[in-house]
Amino acid sequence: MDKLLIQGGQPLAGEVAISGAKNAALPILCASLLTAEPLQLANVPHLNDISTMLRLLAQMGVEVTLDGADGLVLDGKGLNNPLASYEMVKTMRASILVLGPLVARCGEARVSLPGGCAIGARPVDQHIKGLQAMGAEIKVEQGYVHAKASRLKGARICTDMVTVTGTENLMMAACLAEGETIIENAAREPEVVDLANCLISMGARISGAGTDVIRIRGVERLTGAQHSIMPDRIETGTYLCAAAATGGEIRLTRTSAAYLDTVVDKLMDAGCDIVTERDAIRLKAPSRLKSVSLRTAPYPAFPTDMQAQFMAVNAVAEGVATIRETIFENRFMHAVELMRLGADIQIEGSNAIVRGVDRLEGATVMATDLRASASLVIAGLVARGETLIDRIYHLDRGYERIEEKLARLGARVKRVH
Ligand code: EPZ
Repeated sequence: MDKLLIQGGQPLAGEVAISGAKNAALPILCASLLTAEPLQLANVPHLNDISTMLRLLAQMGVEVTLDGADGLVLDGKGLNNPLASYEMVKTMRASILVLGPLVARCGEARVSLPGGCAIGARPVDQHIKGLQAMGAEIKVEQGYVHAKASRLKGARICTDMVTVTGTENLMMAACLAEGETIIENAAREPEVVDLANCLISMGARISGAGTDVIRIRGVERLTGAQHSIMPDRIETGTYLCAAAATGGEIRLTRTSAAYLDTVVDKLMDAGCDIVTERDAIRLKAPSRLKSVSLRTAPYPAFPTDMQAQFMAVNAVAEGVATIRETIFENRFMHAVELMRLGADIQIEGSNAIVRGVDRLEGATVMATDLRASASLVIAGLVARGETLIDRIYHLDRGYERIEEKLARLGARVKRVH
């Protein structure tokens, strides 16, 4: 099992390019199931989760062809096996995103229920409820969702809570339904908008993506299209936090601050100078950060996927910050690992009280989930001495070539097998 070895204390400096967004690419890969024509994608990140999804689609009969450095062509013409097995789904819960497209295109689907994961139970009841509203017959047996529908019918759906992949699954299913579907309480995340833009280029009739009411008028079929995946705003935010925590100065290209307002605001409150360019963003950290409290919530509020990274920033800031996690019930596992590095954190229910310390000391720590791992990398870059992070397969799911990009920024980091 790979580990990451970090010699901390080096401020990050320099420039790296940000990759395509994992959480936009995953649903967009599944959109290839909706058409018998080729979907040509660019700026696809090289991540384990992406490879897992491609293996799953290929098993179903989608033809996957690499197209240059970060391009792909997906051809759903040969789709003949609407099954997502437990073996595939247990390694990546986003596999649930094949459910809506399969029912819409094939009239049936057998998709394993994703297990829970470290950060929470993460049920998919809203995905199922929405498809049932569109006329799908759904049974959940032996850990699988069995769905059948001769043709989905447009419906008015209001999800009980804001769900990103729930909104994406239902939006994709509705593209081929008969009549109009209205999704209320829809997720407004930029990745939902990127998926909608891709679907519209395939001939879907969607309005309201990015707001909490999305209208989809079903069509007979979708065509192929070309689409470039949006930049990864969470990868962008992660590097910004790393530069802030290490007292560095960096420039991130092929990205923008457009979808990171709340993270940029919090980093500026912490004392960072941030300059946004058309497709780049620069950060210069202050000599000492100020503690900044935050509360996670659905977009456009502070993203839960940046909570762990910002806890590492607050760990070495001046003052006391309260971090409130409102989306997932167990997303503070990085806190106990940060404490091993000397952070002063108190967990009280869904609040974490972080008292900034003057310095962190390197230690051996363990990654538990994707963003918790990123938080430990940031803390390791700041800590004096050596930090060894175990189970970094979590990192590889969501950060492309992380040690390469960090090394370009002057970090002393290497992967040990
Ligand atoms: C997406 O997960 C992201 N993953 C997550 O990113 C992100 O943390 C999350 O949205 C919130 O922004 C992808 O896009 C692939 P939700 P998702 O459905 O869609 C509850 C990362 O680090 N819920 O918006 O699974 C759920 O338990 C990952 O890249 C139900 O109860 O999250 C949670 O408490 C981690 N029933 C809340 O809603 C449902 O049917 C929000 O979950 C669906 C969700």
